[in-house]
Amino acid sequence: MDKKLYFFANWKMYLGAKDSTNLAKEYLNIEYPENCKVAVFPSAFAVPEIAKILKGSELELGAQNTYWADKGGYTGEISAVTYKEMGCTYALVGHAERRHIFHESNHDVRLKIEALLQLGITPVLCVGETGEERKKNQIEEVLEAQIRSAFMDLSWPEDITPIVAYEPVWAIGTGESCDAKEAERISDLISSWSEELIGQEPVILYGGSVRGENISGYLAEEHISGALVGGASAKAESWSELIGCLE
Ligand code: 13P
Repeated sequence: MDKKLYFFANWKMYLGAKDSTNLAKEYLNIEYPENCKVAVFPSAFAVPEIAKILKGSELELGAQNTYWADKGGYTGEISAVTYKEMGCTYALVGHAERRHIFHESNHDVRLKIEALLQLGITPVLCVGETGEERKKNQIEEVLEAQIRSAFMDLSWPEDITPIVAYEPVWAIGTGESCDAKEAERISDLISSWSEELIGQEPVILYGGSVRGENISGYLAEEHISGALVGGASAKAESWSELIGCLE
């Protein structure tokens, strides 16, 4: 495959600190294709130890969530500054679970993106419609609002690659993945809205029940350059099976 591929592993809250460090070591035993960028998004507690494990490897590290203020009275939050100090080069922003379980708004997402860009961390903007919104034919409306709020009047730094993950909420952790042609249709839209707003087409990842058996369908599509993987990334076997399907 000619295009550069991105494989981002979101371990969510699936693993404790010890299991996370063990899995990071197993990730290093896997052979990744040359054109493939891999980043791991472990739980916050495991980040410092995993930074040590991944040091000197090609694998990069990301935060699952960050707070926009650098410091202050924000009990329980972790600033992007701290993640940068720990060696994170990416951060997920607006993951569906943050939006729907923790009620993060498009405005929160925007503040986080601005803070990350200031620090030189690459935000991975996650967008997606719920099953209900899909049934009501509100897909484009919801996604456009998510993209516009994130990118409107934003001066995008030249040295940071914009990355957007299309993760339909109904496909996350359900085993019901989005049809590849439909994911491509949406990715095309995301691409044009983004280009209009920040002057460049982002790298687009698909996320939602990605497995070894369905990955090649997504990668065959023009606008999809990789995947943001949850469940299948949290076990060495399913992750190496998925990576094995990229050859
Ligand atoms: P699953 O791969 O478990 O569906 O999760 C997708 C996801 O939310 C990645 O961020």
